[in-house]
Amino acid sequence: MDVKTSRYHEVYASWRRDPQAFWGEAANAIDWIEKPKTVFDPKAGIYGRWFPDGVCNTCYNAVDRHVEAGRGEQAAIIYDSPVTGTKATITYAALQTKTEILAGILEKDFGVTKGDRVIIYMPMVPEAVVAMLACARIGAVHSVVFGGFAPKELATRIDDCTPKAVLSASCGIEGARVVPYKPMLDEAIGLAKHKPAHCLILQRPQVRAELIAGRDHDWHAKWDDALVWAKNVLTPVPVKATDPLYVLYTSGTTGIPKGVVRDNGGHMVALKWSMKNLYGIEPGEVWWSASDIGWVVGHSYIVYGPLLHGATTILYEGKPVGTPNAGAFWRVIAEHGAVAMFTAPTAFRAIKKEDPQGKLFAQYDLSKFRTLFLAGERADPDTLIWAENLLHRPVIDHWWQTETGWCIAGNPVGLGLLPIKHGSPTVAMPGYDIRVVDEGCKEVPIGTMGSIVVKLPLPPGALPTLWQQDARMKESYLAEFPGCYKTADAGYVDDDGYIYVMGRTDDIINVAGHRLSTGGMEEVLAGHKDVAECAVLGIKDELKGEVPCGFVVLKSGVNRPPADIESECIALIREKIGPVASFRLAIVVNRLPKTRSGKILRGTIKKIADRDPWTMPATIDDPAILDEIGGAMKAKGLMA
Ligand code: COA
Ligand code: AMP
Repeated sequence: MDVKTSRYHEVYASWRRDPQAFWGEAANAIDWIEKPKTVFDPKAGIYGRWFPDGVCNTCYNAVDRHVEAGRGEQAAIIYDSPVTGTKATITYAALQTKTEILAGILEKDFGVTKGDRVIIYMPMVPEAVVAMLACARIGAVHSVVFGGFAPKELATRIDDCTPKAVLSASCGIEGARVVPYKPMLDEAIGLAKHKPAHCLILQRPQVRAELIAGRDHDWHAKWDDALVWAKNVLTPVPVKATDPLYVLYTSGTTGIPKGVVRDNGGHMVALKWSMKNLYGIEPGEVWWSASDIGWVVGHSYIVYGPLLHGATTILYEGKPVGTPNAGAFWRVIAEHGAVAMFTAPTAFRAIKKEDPQGKLFAQYDLSKFRTLFLAGERADPDTLIWAENLLHRPVIDHWWQTETGWCIAGNPVGLGLLPIKHGSPTVAMPGYDIRVVDEGCKEVPIGTMGSIVVKLPLPPGALPTLWQQDARMKESYLAEFPGCYKTADAGYVDDDGYIYVMGRTDDIINVAGHRLSTGGMEEVLAGHKDVAECAVLGIKDELKGEVPCGFVVLKSGVNRPPADIESECIALIREKIGPVASFRLAIVVNRLPKTRSGKILRGTIKKIADRDPWTMPATIDDPAILDEIGGAMKAKGLMA
């Protein structure tokens, strides 16, 4: 299919003509308890609210509805865990029973009710998905925390969303390594001011967690008790379309993460629309998003999107390589008959590195497989072309953010594929009026780099606000470009309206598809007793896209071996932020290059480290410092 047969332009134009009619129509695909009479109220919330008088339940739409429609025996979740040697299928009927039971435990045993928060700190096991849905069932607000974060990060989230209960597991399994979760949870609760009343712990066979009497409960024991009474008693609780479904923390420009709020109604409407029109998936088909439920991609496209659509979702507890080899993705696709998959480019870089000829690919039958979707970081053309040559199927880059919850710009397979241009995630989705502007919010000419903004309002599914921080929402996203949402990405648009997303305008970096704040890392390094000042920046990495590198200047009089301090800095970031930061490079330097007004020249250091062409900034205070920095990088083997 090409641009002549794609319905994209017609559909996008219809949204432009009448956004309310467009989303009102899309809302018909959802089962409402009370159908919204108003599609959008521009006066409600910060920039308006979608479906303000609608009443619904997300769990009902993701589970019960399909059972009632005759999909009870269809697989809802296929759990495939090479790290434990487990495979299991959960039908929609079984998922309904499971969500009822867990919802019953939350409500009756722990007193969790509508609006209460529940933290889910779990590995990629089916119980984690059941936990999210059980919260949705009773109108509780879940907040999933990624397992690769350190206890301190978990503590920050506990204090911010003050959960009544935490659902966790004894361990996660990272490749061949067992990561005990419970000691991290205990430490986090120890650090937090807010103390959750209940913790429900899934004991996995690999590690048995110690339970603290009074607070901790054994998942299986509670489950067995609840089996007697919880089944078939807990009907989904009606919530307002605008009530929060979840809070998902993401990196901001400081060490304090932003709690992105997702509502119930708009979220369902947008995700349901996207499954068919963007991803081209039919109900009943098998879909795989190889992300983690701790990230937005996991929320939207491991859990809610496919289940709202009545598709089968694969829950994969493994890595692209090493579990056991670089053929793992092909095995999963072939074995479960996935028609499409969604992952981050970094996963494909990992596969390409281990199996550049695609020898393992040739061993599997991928006849059902139609499309590969990539997002989470810029899809570098090399990796994209490699994947295209291997798969002989469309490889679709698409661009979105935790904040938006779904795609801002993509290539809508369901509406008919548009021509692919390498390096571009293609075009704006309906709901997004994308502009590229200069500092004064004036649109720049086609082909010119600028800040990418979205004209308000944001579409259904995008964040209405930050958890209990309306002011931060306005200040972070809406203040700089009046009337627009600031994506904090920079890029340009070409003559065909294709968008090119080239990088962030703030200090967020993207490490293996994981979003991290270098500002947050600097705050941690500045806390080291011997560090006077520091700069952390993302430098190019063949596998992870970018990795953080920290330059530290020591306080005067400190004469301990620099190598010791560098190791301590690495350990400190791992302790305070977590292994997910992939912080392995700390370099002690005598001075940092600055402008005459004292601003650290991070951009120039990055260019030197990345071996990109650079020029001496006119405002530099002392040019000799750049030679010193270059020398220090060379000594670390960073530059040839
Ligand atoms: N629980 C505990 N630790 C975790 C974790 C989790 N859920 N996820 C990652 N970690 C740890 C890793 O074990 C690793 O620890 P180490 O420093 O002791 O080795 C560290 O965090 C960094 O993880 P990661 O950046 O994922 O690197 P990796 O070397 O383990 O794997 C890839 C590299 C490319 C294979 C991997 O990053 C990947 O599959 N990425 C896909 C990206 C993705 O899913 N993105 C989501 C958005 S779409
Ligand atoms: P996250 O909130 O973790 O999903 O990260 C969002 C950020 O990742 C965006 O603001 C971009 O900087 C980057 N990103 C995500 N997808 C893409 C893409 N397809 N192309 C370029 N950058 C992307």
